[in-house]
Amino acid sequence: MKKSPETLAAQAGGRIDAPTGALVPALHTSTTFARDPGYALVGPHEYARDDNPTFLPCEDVLGELEGGAALVFASGMAAASAVVESTVRTGDHVVASRAMYWSFRNRLRALADRFALDLELCDPGDVARAVRPGVTRLVWIETPANPTWDVVDVAAAAGAAHAGGALLAVDSTAATPVLSRPLELGADFVMHSATKYLSGHGDVVAGAVVVRDRGPLWQSLRAHRRGAGSVLGPFEAWLLSRGMRTLFVRVARQCESALALAEALAKTPGIREVLYPGLPTHPGHAIAARQMRGGFGGMLSVRVDGGRARALEVAGKLTVFARATSFGGTESLVEHRASVEGPGSLAPEDLLRLSVGLEPASELLDDLRRALGA
Ligand SMILES: Cc1ncc(COP(=O)(O)O)c(C=O)c1O
Repeated sequence: MKKSPETLAAQAGGRIDAPTGALVPALHTSTTFARDPGYALVGPHEYARDDNPTFLPCEDVLGELEGGAALVFASGMAAASAVVESTVRTGDHVVASRAMYWSFRNRLRALADRFALDLELCDPGDVARAVRPGVTRLVWIETPANPTWDVVDVAAAAGAAHAGGALLAVDSTAATPVLSRPLELGADFVMHSATKYLSGHGDVVAGAVVVRDRGPLWQSLRAHRRGAGSVLGPFEAWLLSRGMRTLFVRVARQCESALALAEALAKTPGIREVLYPGLPTHPGHAIAARQMRGGFGGMLSVRVDGGRARALEVAGKLTVFARATSFGGTESLVEHRASVEGPGSLAPEDLLRLSVGLEPASELLDDLRRALGA
């Protein structure tokens, strides 16, 4: 019987370790793999910078979740860099939605400087229009996008990219494969910071890219990973595999709590605006409702009355939310993005980003209301 993605995730791929009968995948720390007296490799592996047996459950499960073939990387940034560096050549035109994880926006700018790329950063709604037929090589979008949760229409971006001869990459970190499957909407690359929801416990830095099959895109990503050495450590791969077992239940709960918080905060005095694609007032709601299923994610941001000082004051008074960067873990986090990103940040000064964890939504709401004095 074909197992559903949810079952495969819960069972870490469902393999049984042949020599031992173990249900939990083994953690292989060996960097090198033996050859027989005739100098043939004893197994399918040679050296741990190429790949490692501990990767396999992660890559198999993630491939099934996204409907493609996955590769894991040392971090989300390594995964994203591999997509760009294995796709573009000097002088290529690259379109990217400006609304994206700031550090990768900076990385794209740095790559553009060094390799004379013609990088065009545009508004999320202008991605399709920015594609220049026959000229654009890569289109990069993140949806929902940090930290305002702008939504980009993946199918429209894929249509425009392909009509112009370009490839579409989607950073789907915030959506997770539970809520969105960009390959089915036409994307060529799906990228994840697996540091976030996929691993889900705040204890692994990891990244992943999924492409449709083990064809040329997969081959060149794998060659890039081997050449750049951006390989995930076996312990991190093991933790990622363990974390993905609970992905579906975590994301379902986080979506439910985030929506409850967004709805309640929209009516709370002291809050100017709630940014959450699940609210009908969010500009990306209609597209999100079309391309996400089962929820709108566990991330939302609030803009508070009173600007930067007030936002920092509110963050300082929270006791259930931890003040820390990153997201997608079991504990709720609050972050003043403008402080973290520093000069040049596009994040509004009055914005607090909330990563909703697994605590009861009522406790999180009480914490926010008390901090706001509402
Ligand atoms: C949306 C998004 N993409 C990519 C990254 C980079 O991932 P990593 O920190 O795993 O390198 C992050 C990190 O915060 C992110 O939020």
